[in-house]
Amino acid sequence: MAMLAELTHRCPLACPYCSNPVDLERKERELTTVQWKDIFTQAADMGVLHVHFSGGEPASRRDLEEMVEHACKAGLYTNLITSGIGLTRHRLKTLDQCGLDHIQLSLQGVDEQMADHIGGYKGGFVRKMQVAEWIAEIGFPLTLNAVMHRKNFDHLEETIDIAIKTGARRLEVATVQFHGWATKNRAALMPTRKQAKQARLTVNAARERLQGVLVIDYVPADHHSDYPKPCMGGWASTGINIAPDGSVLPCHAAQTIKGLTFEKATERALKDIWYQSAAFNAFRGFEWMQEPCRSCDLKTKDFGGCRCQAMAIAGDAAATDPVCIKSPLHETLVRQAEADATGEAEIEYRVMSV
Ligand code: SF4
Ligand code: FES
Repeated sequence: MAMLAELTHRCPLACPYCSNPVDLERKERELTTVQWKDIFTQAADMGVLHVHFSGGEPASRRDLEEMVEHACKAGLYTNLITSGIGLTRHRLKTLDQCGLDHIQLSLQGVDEQMADHIGGYKGGFVRKMQVAEWIAEIGFPLTLNAVMHRKNFDHLEETIDIAIKTGARRLEVATVQFHGWATKNRAALMPTRKQAKQARLTVNAARERLQGVLVIDYVPADHHSDYPKPCMGGWASTGINIAPDGSVLPCHAAQTIKGLTFEKATERALKDIWYQSAAFNAFRGFEWMQEPCRSCDLKTKDFGGCRCQAMAIAGDAAATDPVCIKSPLHETLVRQAEADATGEAEIEYRVMSV
């Protein structure tokens, strides 16, 4: 269905919840324009429908427009996932002419003070609101992406108001997922149980109130849930990620799973990696599952949860996601989440090591 193309790890912002790996790829290791174009051609040929241009900040690549144009011509639906920083009115107009179909703009907070603090970038909020105006003027369909955590969850209503004000058709309310840089910031960002509960009520009420105006996608706080999310819709089933160096992954955190080898799109055909590689086949179907997942009726709905979360917490990627109430580690996870949610930790910004 979809390819997430992480064009670069470079980004002017430094959000502490970033799902990029802690070891960020440097510019010198990024794929070239020609290599990316070849990947988009291969993706379209094997039936991929959407490509999401992501990062880091994809606008940090000066060849973004050229890649968008190529992907559009190959027949892919193109979506730009951006902080807005690095986009000018002129660049947006060019992207429109190149055929860009849709934009997702991130929102770090509901005002200048909060947004610039969370994003670690002074002036980011004002700039982003300006970019949102240009997006509306050109007429791109817009989704706002709001990653929610303990420091901004109490402002969910205002977040919804901003989505309406900017003319977004869709708002993604995504509770922080603890992968990559976010794992360093668990104690600073873990929402409280009360916030998680209130968020669901607020989202449900807003969905009712805003029917026909705004669609709200909601990724709940799974550390405060009894059952896990069907991460990636099941391992290597509908999505494929390409890291800036060309590594082909079933999800953004897959490289944290020890024992799996991920091949590069520059060294093997994408189709072969998707269908034949050991890493992509590792958790397809149900044979790999252990108890309690193996004999559980819900396995066809949640696929045992998230493999990367199982790896991080249980130390075994084939274990039941500890978010599940049936996991022997569920109680430990809940206790840790409660402890993190009451902590006073400072945020650690995402930075590229020197
Ligand atoms: Fe899902 Fe496994 Fe829990 Fe069943 S036991 S609900 S399949 S995670
Ligand atoms: Fe990798 Fe969930 S993030 S399977």
